[in-house]
Amino acid sequence: MDDRTIPEEQGRSAGAGSALAGAAEAPAVANTRKVYVRTFGCQMNVYDSERMTEALSSQGYAETGALEDADLVIINTCHIREKAAEKVYSDLGRIRQVKDARAEGGSETVVAVVGCVAQAEGAEIVRRAPVVDLVIGPQSYHRLGELIARTRTENRSLVETQFPEEEKFAHLPQRAPARGVTAFLTVQEGCDKFCTFCVVPYTRGSEYSRSVADIEREARALVASGVREVTLLGQNVNGYHGAGPGGRIYSLADLLRHLSRIAGLERLRYTTSHPRDMDDDLIAAHGDEPKLMPYLHLPFQSGADRILAAMNRKHTAREYIDLIARIRAAQPELALSTDVIVGFPGETEEEFEATLSVFAEVGFAAAYSFKYSPRPGTPAEKLADQVPERVKTERLARLQRLIEAQQTAFAAKCVGRTLPVLFERAGRRPGQLIGRSPYLQSVHANAPAEMLGRIVPVEISGFGPNSLAGVIRPE
Ligand code: 5AD
Ligand code: SF4
Repeated sequence: MDDRTIPEEQGRSAGAGSALAGAAEAPAVANTRKVYVRTFGCQMNVYDSERMTEALSSQGYAETGALEDADLVIINTCHIREKAAEKVYSDLGRIRQVKDARAEGGSETVVAVVGCVAQAEGAEIVRRAPVVDLVIGPQSYHRLGELIARTRTENRSLVETQFPEEEKFAHLPQRAPARGVTAFLTVQEGCDKFCTFCVVPYTRGSEYSRSVADIEREARALVASGVREVTLLGQNVNGYHGAGPGGRIYSLADLLRHLSRIAGLERLRYTTSHPRDMDDDLIAAHGDEPKLMPYLHLPFQSGADRILAAMNRKHTAREYIDLIARIRAAQPELALSTDVIVGFPGETEEEFEATLSVFAEVGFAAAYSFKYSPRPGTPAEKLADQVPERVKTERLARLQRLIEAQQTAFAAKCVGRTLPVLFERAGRRPGQLIGRSPYLQSVHANAPAEMLGRIVPVEISGFGPNSLAGVIRPE
């Protein structure tokens, strides 16, 4: 994906944006049934869950946060590491109890497992957890409504994990009014890189880019409903090559420049990228496209060339470091984040230390680090010299201390600066709003509610472990 997998369940953002100004129409059907959605994993799953909920809304389903009330339960799953995948089964245990209790009260509950575990495990899910009525892979969720109806009439579990010829985006309804001022927008899916540790090329399939017109339409609908910042998503987003106007193939840089012309769209981001696909145009866009935020998530996975080769990463540590230097030359303000894996099979102490050295040399504003987790069907799973769990745990702890120190150093450097903050939602304290800095940091400040959805200069006065505090400065 290198898409950044959020370790914990990802909640839907309780956006505060002006959902009223929107373009999309009200659902044609009264919302009589309830759907409960639980999302694990990366931002793309968050996006997919939103699209599914929107599609279901036009079929009469209202969203609920209470499992007990749900006529339809959807678990959108992540297969990237074993822990994430296993969470599905512990969840299904509890769902079975709720389904049984509801059945006693005369209510039916349809349980659907969607996303990457569904794709990878298919019918095995129903065997392990017969409570499941539907198993639907990430390329087929536009058929959810039809499959729900079929599982009811046929009274049996259904498994749909094909990579269909037709494009799911063409079958989904237009975006409903957004609920916040920031939104994800999937522009690319799948991955052809085949890093040897990764399930994504198998669960999400080969690379596919949506057309520029399709993406622009969706971006305009989001902006019309109050969105000011869009994050373009793709498992290998900088490999984007979609059909553009006049039949020309657009690169990600072309797409960013095209979207930046939409009035009212103030900020653009993209994630996640592969170092090999950071072309000169994209690097240049970081320097000269003001709407493109100075933040880049660029995984390097390991600092040791032998491990990088075994991972099939197609770059060396030096190439990564040189690439960063080139991007920073174009955009000196750039804040960087990355993903790394510790304990890939055969990783020695020196090789692990090479990863620490890349951190020392580059300096990251944020980073996501993971213990290597052998995944079924991937080449690395079969490698002989798996690193013992306690070694992985120890290395991860050392790495995370360094990451924390770098994150703190980056936050400390922001104190005293005035940063443009896009306010997204109310804070925990009365009178407080929370927004994001250009570097994706959470910033809270005392601010009137009218500032929601606006980009406001905020002088940073302090920082905590996960956020900055600031004071609004006159514009
Ligand atoms: N084990 C541990 N981490 C993994 N990732 C992907 N596959 C695995 C695995 N098998 C990490 C990579 C990737 C991020 C989304 O998850 O660092 O960039
Ligand atoms: Fe990212 Fe590599 Fe997985 Fe592709 S195969 S999604 S580049 S980690």
